[in-house]
Amino acid sequence: MRILSGIQPSGEPHIGNYFGAMRQHVALQDRGDAIFFLADYHSMTTIRNADERRRFTHELALDYLACGLDPKRAVLYRQSDLPELCELAWILTTVTPMGLLERATSYKDKIAAGAAVNHGLFAYPVLMAADILIYNADIVPVGQDQKQHLEMTRDIAGAFNHTYGREVFKLPEPQILEEVAVVPGTDGRKMSKSYGNTIRMFAPEGEIKKAVMGIVTDSTPVEAPKDTASALFQLWSLFASPAEREALFARAKQGGVGYGEIKKDLLARLLAHFAPLRERRAALARRAGDVEDALADGARRARELARPTLEAARDAAGLGPR
Ligand code: ADP
Ligand code: TRP
Repeated sequence: MRILSGIQPSGEPHIGNYFGAMRQHVALQDRGDAIFFLADYHSMTTIRNADERRRFTHELALDYLACGLDPKRAVLYRQSDLPELCELAWILTTVTPMGLLERATSYKDKIAAGAAVNHGLFAYPVLMAADILIYNADIVPVGQDQKQHLEMTRDIAGAFNHTYGREVFKLPEPQILEEVAVVPGTDGRKMSKSYGNTIRMFAPEGEIKKAVMGIVTDSTPVEAPKDTASALFQLWSLFASPAEREALFARAKQGGVGYGEIKKDLLARLLAHFAPLRERRAALARRAGDVEDALADGARRARELARPTLEAARDAAGLGPR
């Protein structure tokens, strides 16, 4: 079974990204032939600074490796190391109806928000289809927000097969990542870069401490019962066993538990949970050459997997000599 997913380099993951995506991605490497790539071509539709893109892409590799992605088992590569993807994207773009792309909600949302849109943003789903179809991936784990893009991939694959009368592409199955209860941010809303309410998993300890101590709480006195649905309790629960959770929630409902006590405990648990990951990341950061070697090896393996499908598509479309 071939599993494939791409991740946009957007810098500095937070614990919402970790529980909602990264941890689940890494777990998939035990379930089949997993291929992951750093979507730097896709990032060109929004990031306009070369140094920033390079830095974010490298950092994303470090983040995933630190989280336990094993580049010997899974294939990890940088999208732009495989320019073949752009060729396939062109081939696919010629069988993609305009109307299909015009219906993409991510594109429509950007227009509605008054963003200055470019053709890359419009064609984004076609490049994404190329990413997936070039490996004939069976399963594509993504968040709910990417579901429409996968449906478009199936439509585009079908359009090509139909146009040239050959089953070159397999229609991939989307696998929506386990809906982890949304991780709340320090202000109680969904944790998100765009809200500035994050706890960054690899931030310096001082910054993590400040973020945890700053989690919003109400003015319920220590003796009074507490609302365990609040951000602090939910964040704490991410780092506790079901039994520990039950015990704390029972105490909290009776009263006598102070917010300060929970924050201190959350901080200790959070730092302990991420300590081995931070150590691994720091070690990797000192060996940038090794990370580049792993990515180069990933690109080589990816190319081997991609080549036959691209050749089949070229042949079906009558490109190159017979
Ligand atoms: P952000 O909202 O910070 O910009 P992204 O949209 O880049 O995060 O999300 C990257 C991945 O992390 C997605 O798969 C998304 O579902 C997951 N994710 C982001 N924020 C959360 C959260 N608060 N709780 C659970 N998962 C999240
Ligand atoms: N669009 C995806 C996102 O923003 C990233 C992505 C690019 C991707 N190509 C892909 C995901 C192919 C899965 C398969 O999250």
